[in-house]
Amino acid sequence: MLVLGIETSCDETAAAVVDDDGTIRSDIVLSQLEDHAPYGGVVPEIAARAHVDHLDSIIARAMTEAGVGYRDLDAVAATAGPGLIGGVMVGLMTGKAIAAASDRPFIAVNHLEGHALTVRLTHQAAFPYLLLLISGGHCQLLEVTGVGAYHRFGTTIDDAIGEAFDKTAKLLGLGFPGGPALEAAAKAGNPKAFALPRPLAGTETCDFSFSGLKTAVLHAVRGAGPLTDTVRADVAASFQAAVADVLADRVGRAMQRYAARHGDGRTLVVAGGVAANRTLGDRLATVAAAHDFALMVPPPRLCTDNAVMIAWAGLERLQLGLTDNLAAPPRARWPLDMEAAAAGAKA
Ligand code: KG4
Ligand code: ZN
Repeated sequence: MLVLGIETSCDETAAAVVDDDGTIRSDIVLSQLEDHAPYGGVVPEIAARAHVDHLDSIIARAMTEAGVGYRDLDAVAATAGPGLIGGVMVGLMTGKAIAAASDRPFIAVNHLEGHALTVRLTHQAAFPYLLLLISGGHCQLLEVTGVGAYHRFGTTIDDAIGEAFDKTAKLLGLGFPGGPALEAAAKAGNPKAFALPRPLAGTETCDFSFSGLKTAVLHAVRGAGPLTDTVRADVAASFQAAVADVLADRVGRAMQRYAARHGDGRTLVVAGGVAANRTLGDRLATVAAAHDFALMVPPPRLCTDNAVMIAWAGLERLQLGLTDNLAAPPRARWPLDMEAAAAGAKA
C-alpha cells in the first residue's frame, strides 16, 4: 500500500510517499528557515503564505521521485493539527482536494501521532512503549499502547523544551533555530560554571517546567559581565547540563511508573527535533540502561518535522480502517491524550 503524506503545521513544507513495507519512496522537506530567521522565530502568517507558495511543487516532486501517479495511491494523509492554524489549513485542504479528485480515502493525521509512530517504521518497534516527545512545541512523556491509544504521564507546565533551547540561544546571540547552535557552543564550555536550577526534579509527577530555568539563565548572563565567547560557551554548557539533569530525573520517574504497568517489552522511544541533541541523547542512554529499558531513537532527519511520519501514521490508520471524511477540521490544539489534557496542564 502507498500513502502520500503532507506536512505543513509549522515551518517545514513537506511531502512524502511511503510504502507499507517500510520503503520511503520519496521524502521532500523544504525548510522556511531563511524566511523566519530575521524575526528570531517562526512568524505564522509568513509560514502560511510560504506553504501556499511551495506545497504544490513539493507534492509534485514527491510523486515524481516516487514514480507514481495519484491513482496509484491507496490514501492521502495530511496533518490536521496541532500547529499554526494557517499552515495546517493549507496542507489539510490540499490533501483533501487530491483525495477527492483522485477518489482515494483521506486521513487527517495528528502531527504528534506522526512523531509517536515513526519508530515503528525505523525500528519495527512493537507496542507498547514509553515515548519522550521533545520538540519546539512539546515536551511530554506518553505511554503508547496502540495507534490512537496514548496515556500521558506528564507534560510541560509552561515552555516546551525546544522553545527553552531557542530562547536561551537567542539570549546568547547564537541565532535561530537555537538548539543546534547552543549544542555547538556548549562543547567549549564548562557545565558547572553557572549554578542553574533543575525545575521539578525529584517531584512525584512526570511533569516538566522550563520557564524558571530561562529566567535563571537571564540573571546569570546579566551577572556575568561582557558576553564573551567563554561566557557564551559556559552558559550554554550549564544550561544544557541542567536540561539533561531534568530530563534524566523526569524520564527515570516515568520509567518507574511504566515498569509498574508493563512487566516486559520495556522500551524508551525518543522523538521530536530535540532528540538530535547528543548530550541529551547520551544521558538518556545512561538512564535507559540503568532502568533496563531498550532505547530507540529515529535518525535526526525523521525526528525533525517531515512528511514521512505523516504518511506512515496514515498507513497505520489505513490498515486499521481508520479513515476520515472531508469534513475533518484543522485544529490548532489537538492533544494525543484528550483525558489528561482536559484534566489539567496544557498539551
Ligand atoms: O520537531 P521539530 O523539528 O519541530 C517541532 O515540531 O517543534 O523541533 C524543532 C526544535 C527547535 O526548537 C530546535 O531548536 C530543536 O528542535 N533542536 C534542538 C537540536 N536540534 C533541533 N535542540 C537541542 N539540540 C539540538 N541539537
Ligand atoms: Zn514536530
